[in-house]
Amino acid sequence: MKGYWNLTSTISLTLSILFLFGYSYEDVSAVPTTHLCRPDQRDALLQFKNEFEVLNSSFAYDCYLDDYIVKRHPKTESWRNNSDCCTWEGITCNVKSGEVIELDLSCSYLGGRFHSNSSLQNLHSLTTLDLSSNRFSGQIMSSIRNLSHITSLDLSENVFSEFILSSIVDLSYLTYLDLSWNFLSGQIPSSIGNLSHLTSLDLSGNNIVGEIPSSFGNLNHLTSLDVAVNRLNGSFPIALLNLTKLSSLELYYNQFTGTIPHNITSLSKLTTFYASNNAFTGTLPSSLFTIPSIDYVNLSDNQLNGNLELGNISSPPKLRVLVVGNNKLRGLIPGTISKFTNLVRLDLSRYTTQGQVDFSIFSHLKWLKLLDLSDLNATTTIDMNDFLSYFKRLGVLDLSGNHVSATNKSPISDPSSLYQLYLSGCGITELPEFVRLQNMEKLDISNNKIKGQVPGWLWKIPKLIYLNLSNNTFTGFENSTKHGLSLMALLASNNNFTGKIPSLICDLRFVFILDLSNNNFNGSIPRCLGNLNYTLTDLNLGQNHLHGGLPENIFGNLRALDVGHNQLTGKLPRSLIRFSSLEVLNVESNFFNDTFPFWLSFLPELKILVLRSNAFYGTIHHTSFPKLQIIDISHNHFNGALPSHYFVKWSAMSSLGSIYYQPDEMYMGDSYYHDSVVLMNKGIEMELVRILKIYTALDFSGNKFEGEIPRSIGLLKELLVLNLSNNAFTGHIPSSMGNLTALESLHVSQNQLSGEIPQELGELSFLSYMNFSHNKLTGLVPGGTQFRRLNCTSFEDNPELSGPSLDEICRDIHTPTPHEPSEEEEEEEEEVLSWKAAVIGFIPGIAFGWVIGYILFSYKPQWFFMNPFARNKRRISSTTTH
Ligand SMILES: *[C@@H]1O[C@H](CO)[C@@H](O)[C@H](O)[C@H]1NC(C)=O
Ligand SMILES: *[C@@H]1O[C@H](CO)[C@@H](O)[C@H](O)[C@H]1NC(C)=O
Ligand SMILES: *[C@@H]1O[C@H](CO)[C@@H](O)[C@H](O)[C@H]1NC(C)=O
Ligand SMILES: *[C@@H]1O[C@H](CO)[C@@H](O)[C@H](O)[C@H]1NC(C)=O
Ligand SMILES: *[C@@H]1O[C@H](CO)[C@@H](O)[C@H](O)[C@H]1NC(C)=O
Ligand SMILES: *[C@@H]1O[C@H](CO)[C@@H](O)[C@H](O)[C@H]1NC(C)=O
Ligand SMILES: *[C@@H]1O[C@H](CO)[C@@H](O)[C@H](O)[C@H]1NC(C)=O
Ligand SMILES: *[C@@H]1O[C@H](CO)[C@@H](O)[C@H](O)[C@H]1NC(C)=O
Ligand SMILES: *[C@@H]1O[C@H](CO)[C@@H](O)[C@H](O)[C@H]1NC(C)=O
Ligand SMILES: *[C@@H]1O[C@H](CO)[C@@H](O)[C@H](O)[C@H]1NC(C)=O
Repeated sequence: MKGYWNLTSTISLTLSILFLFGYSYEDVSAVPTTHLCRPDQRDALLQFKNEFEVLNSSFAYDCYLDDYIVKRHPKTESWRNNSDCCTWEGITCNVKSGEVIELDLSCSYLGGRFHSNSSLQNLHSLTTLDLSSNRFSGQIMSSIRNLSHITSLDLSENVFSEFILSSIVDLSYLTYLDLSWNFLSGQIPSSIGNLSHLTSLDLSGNNIVGEIPSSFGNLNHLTSLDVAVNRLNGSFPIALLNLTKLSSLELYYNQFTGTIPHNITSLSKLTTFYASNNAFTGTLPSSLFTIPSIDYVNLSDNQLNGNLELGNISSPPKLRVLVVGNNKLRGLIPGTISKFTNLVRLDLSRYTTQGQVDFSIFSHLKWLKLLDLSDLNATTTIDMNDFLSYFKRLGVLDLSGNHVSATNKSPISDPSSLYQLYLSGCGITELPEFVRLQNMEKLDISNNKIKGQVPGWLWKIPKLIYLNLSNNTFTGFENSTKHGLSLMALLASNNNFTGKIPSLICDLRFVFILDLSNNNFNGSIPRCLGNLNYTLTDLNLGQNHLHGGLPENIFGNLRALDVGHNQLTGKLPRSLIRFSSLEVLNVESNFFNDTFPFWLSFLPELKILVLRSNAFYGTIHHTSFPKLQIIDISHNHFNGALPSHYFVKWSAMSSLGSIYYQPDEMYMGDSYYHDSVVLMNKGIEMELVRILKIYTALDFSGNKFEGEIPRSIGLLKELLVLNLSNNAFTGHIPSSMGNLTALESLHVSQNQLSGEIPQELGELSFLSYMNFSHNKLTGLVPGGTQFRRLNCTSFEDNPELSGPSLDEICRDIHTPTPHEPSEEEEEEEEEVLSWKAAVIGFIPGIAFGWVIGYILFSYKPQWFFMNPFARNKRRISSTTTH
């Protein structure tokens, strides 16, 4: 499946519009036949129908077929006792015998468990079985093991897990096998090499580990192999070089290492080589480009180094897609690239060119539609007037991180095909007027030095859906008569906007993401923002000078609300309780004066709650926060004791489940907007610019809590950061804390804690920071490396603490002790999302899936327009998965 020829805005817009209005394509797959089916076959089918349920539509999810949204359709509803089963939807019978030979129940809303005696096994003559895109689980293999005629089996997009892989090998006549997007785990059994008739094998989108078995070398009829989006490792599977009929090889999003062999040319029929997002090293063999049929090469996001060698090219290669961005390639960009005149898409981002680049070499690539030359480290300034004159068809251009001169001196030669332009960090001082293109949809001019007013004409670009102005020095918005009605994401943080939030913002009726943080806006939050309440999902007004209250009743569909670091007063509006999609609420560093919003526990999705540094007061009621992962209520006036079972219903902190996130799905937020939060971790205040979905923290510090630390704290097994310092807790540190096996940072200083430090803490292997200072602890400090690495100050002012480890730690207060701040949450690498991962869009093993990804024109996540309704679906699938 390739989609680069689909990379047009028309399709994406059409799709999103279709989606907005709820249309979808009907799947018409009933196969009428004239012959009556045999009663035994009919009975088996009816029995099969009764083994499963037709899912309630509110629990359903969309279904993709060849890049189309297919309406889910309960095919089995046409299955009635009194009609010819060969006319039932999804059934094909053998014309002579009346036996069912094909069963296609794809996208049929079906759910439930297969049991070993499923009536499916009575359909002895089945050759084709398509159960894709349902919600099946259970023991399907025992039901189909005896179906010896099966040649085509499509079980993709269900929730099957590992057992299938090892038992599938019984179906020795298989030619087509698709197990993609299930929950398969474990290794690929080498016996799969016995399925010697296979022409197509798709195991993508699972959780498979280990190496590709060498027995794959026997699958010599294979034309298509897809093992993408798993956790496979090892070096390039040499055995595959035996597969001389292989046309499509997809290995992307795995953990393959080592070099790509020169003799990949053995795959003389290869058209698609898609191996991005692995850890391949070495140089990219130029021999790859000598394969006559080669059409699509995507090796972005690996560790390839050295020069890009394209070999000696005489006639223009067929190659249409060359994506090698985000590697460690360096040196001159080979001039031979100008011979690749059939290229439609070229990505050389982060190719370290060290010096001058002759950008005219790209002028021969007349068919280019997507060009990514971001971060080339070139000293050459790109003159937009010249550069754009090279191309007639260019739709997407990324020159971010290069020096660009974009003057308004002369009209740019017809760049009207351009619809996405990324000029982030290009040293631009003036917004070039040429971006005012009729077709412009996405414009990123962030990280430049543009001053003054945001010009009114920007809002008149008719199709603009994404506008990133952040990190410039804009001061205001020029008035405009017509307002950006198409805009869906406006990112304007880190500027110098002053005055009130302009009413113009309230006219952006379709905006989903609005980030005005880090400016100098003052005044109150305008009620007219409520105009956006049907679409707005992510609103960030943090780090301004806003005052007044948080208005009641203005937003309904928010996923994230950040109003931190303002001067807001009053109470939290109770209408928040209706924000049923809210995942993130951050009101830190304001003057809210209210009791603990226990009523927020009614929000089923709430994951992050930050009330830090306000004037909240009173006791914190017994609550349950099933999805809460980060709570920071520090520096308020909360008081009272916490009952010992206080944390019993905080399920997410107890168990996040076995989740495996793909790199592009690791952070809270979406492709345009990442949530961020500042937390105390290991005694240091750190900003999580992006929040890992698996991050958990609990900070109750700086209040007046008293009584004992609840024993139930030991249930929070996923907790990474625990800060209870600066309260009035008494009693012992509960030994149940020894169960906090994930804990990295424990801060209980400045309380009235007595008794011994539980020995169990010495066994918590990730615990690298602890602070027990200023308490009344007694007895021996536990041994163990975790304790011996601590700073003596972690124990100070506990006069009765003693023991050899304390002596060792405090032997010489002036000896530096190692203390490494955690790094993982600070990483800020730019992840690049391959379009296909986006197209498929959901990642197995993650509770939520089905991201709307068929909007094909994006190729980096932050640019990727995600359908706003995707989130609801993700939520729905997460509730059905467990
Ligand atoms: C390659 O395929 C041949 C049959 O075409 C088979 O005999 C041989 O064992 C295979 N080699 C490997 C390494 O799998
Ligand atoms: C390909 O080259 C590798 C070494 O890079 C070698 O191990 C392998 O046998 C070669 N295979 C073929 C089919 O030439
Ligand atoms: C970028 O180029 C400059 C010289 O122009 C060089 O000093 C620097 O090391 C280069 N950066 C990288 C990452 O190679
Ligand atoms: C803001 O843009 C400048 C370039 O103009 C860049 O150096 C800086 O890192 C950017 N800051 C942020 C926070 O992105
Ligand atoms: C902006 O335009 C609106 C109506 O279009 C008008 O009411 C308002 O006064 C204008 N503001 C300025 C500052 O020109
Ligand atoms: C931001 O605006 C204020 C006045 O509103 C001005 O004093 C300040 O210099 C501006 N900052 C920048 C970086 O332009
Ligand atoms: C949106 O706001 C309007 C008033 O501005 C209100 O009548 C409506 O109920 C709100 N809708 C939602 C979903 O909050
Ligand atoms: C909070 O509000 C109450 C009155 O409602 C007031 O007595 C109290 O001083 C306020 N607290 C703070 C810290 O402002
Ligand atoms: C730790 O957890 C186990 C079960 O996971 C439980 O049996 C045990 O009582 C807990 N220990 C403490 C000290 O709470
Ligand atoms: C120990 O912590 C104190 C205060 O946090 C700090 O000033 C000191 O440098 C630390 N000492 C070592 C050796 O890390």
